[in-house]
Amino acid sequence: MSNLPLVLAIDTSCDDTAAAVVHGVQIRSNIIASQTELHKPYGGVFPTVAKQAHSEHIHPAVQLALKRAGVTADQLTAIAVTKGPGLAPALEVGITYASAFALTHRKPLIAVNHIEGHILSVLAEPWRKHSVPHSVALPLPVLGVVISGGHTLFVLVHEIGSYQIIGSTLDDAAGECLDKIGRMLNLGYPAGPVIEQFAKLGNPLSYPFPLPMTTDKRANLSFSGLKTHARKLITGLQAKQQPLPQQVVYDLCASTQRGVFRHIQYKLSPVLKQYSPSEVWLGGGVAANSTLRATLRKTISEVLPESSLRVPYSKKLCADNAAMIGVVASLRIQMQKASYTQNPDREPRMKLESNLASATLDT
Ligand code: KG4
Ligand code: ZN
Repeated sequence: MSNLPLVLAIDTSCDDTAAAVVHGVQIRSNIIASQTELHKPYGGVFPTVAKQAHSEHIHPAVQLALKRAGVTADQLTAIAVTKGPGLAPALEVGITYASAFALTHRKPLIAVNHIEGHILSVLAEPWRKHSVPHSVALPLPVLGVVISGGHTLFVLVHEIGSYQIIGSTLDDAAGECLDKIGRMLNLGYPAGPVIEQFAKLGNPLSYPFPLPMTTDKRANLSFSGLKTHARKLITGLQAKQQPLPQQVVYDLCASTQRGVFRHIQYKLSPVLKQYSPSEVWLGGGVAANSTLRATLRKTISEVLPESSLRVPYSKKLCADNAAMIGVVASLRIQMQKASYTQNPDREPRMKLESNLASATLDT
């Protein structure tokens, strides 16, 4: 085995119990015990249910991650765990388990920011049995774009550990907006993946959505107006016909998706112009959406053709996972920038670490 870090990583920030083993930036195992079915009746994540399920799944998930990776606890360089942001009771389960595991096996513990995990998820590489893991060359600075159920933000990555938030949502996250509109259409939870499938069968121009925040020159986003627009639209259509014909649902999904992605596209353009990042790194659950990827690729090719979009090598790395947490810890160890801790406190509202002032766009 090479001398690159071998990290066991744990993430219990929301509703998935995740454990992974990362070698350098190669993913040797990536276990996700999903709680989706448990939360479906609530139409969202129910914190006490999440805590109970994490407590049941964490030990088997870690054991399976080690087994799939073919490594023993003794061989590990370090343990990494998500400290925040996330649901407090859920974070607590992962942190308590990771702290005890690190203590028992006398391994250093690294606390990681979940958002940083989503940003650096594009750097993960698949495990290749017969090749020696290599370090990554980073084309910094790049623009990180995180679009998930809990977060939507543009972040300039100056180097690993040095982040400048350029803009973020002022209310709902993009995934949350898709989920809430999907709920109005009885698409179940989470609705994002269903909306993507239904949108393929619908006409995105059937129901035009307004473009939010056009008078605000900053790079911040807002999705609550789109949600309100959808509610009025759907209620109006349902008043005429109940249940809605399937084609209308397809058209609403296609139009919703277009409305949400057009807003992100509109806000991304000036950021690209001003900061000229060499690459755009897309992470977060919504990053799995092929239409979003195509929309952002088109924007980049029009506005900054010398740049390009990088996405995680597998869609499993877009949604919440522990492999991305392991990648952050491993890179920090390699750069000798890891800070070790013994029993970290959960930080449900943890900010992305930054040594730079938050930015405003040139107008
Ligand atoms: O990153 P993630 O797993 O959890 C958070 O940190 O929030 O993101 C979950 C979000 C949900 O809102 C879900 O509906 C959305 O990602 N999502 C998608 C797709 N897959 C997941 N949205 C659109 N298209 C998809 N294919
Ligand atoms: Zn996430």
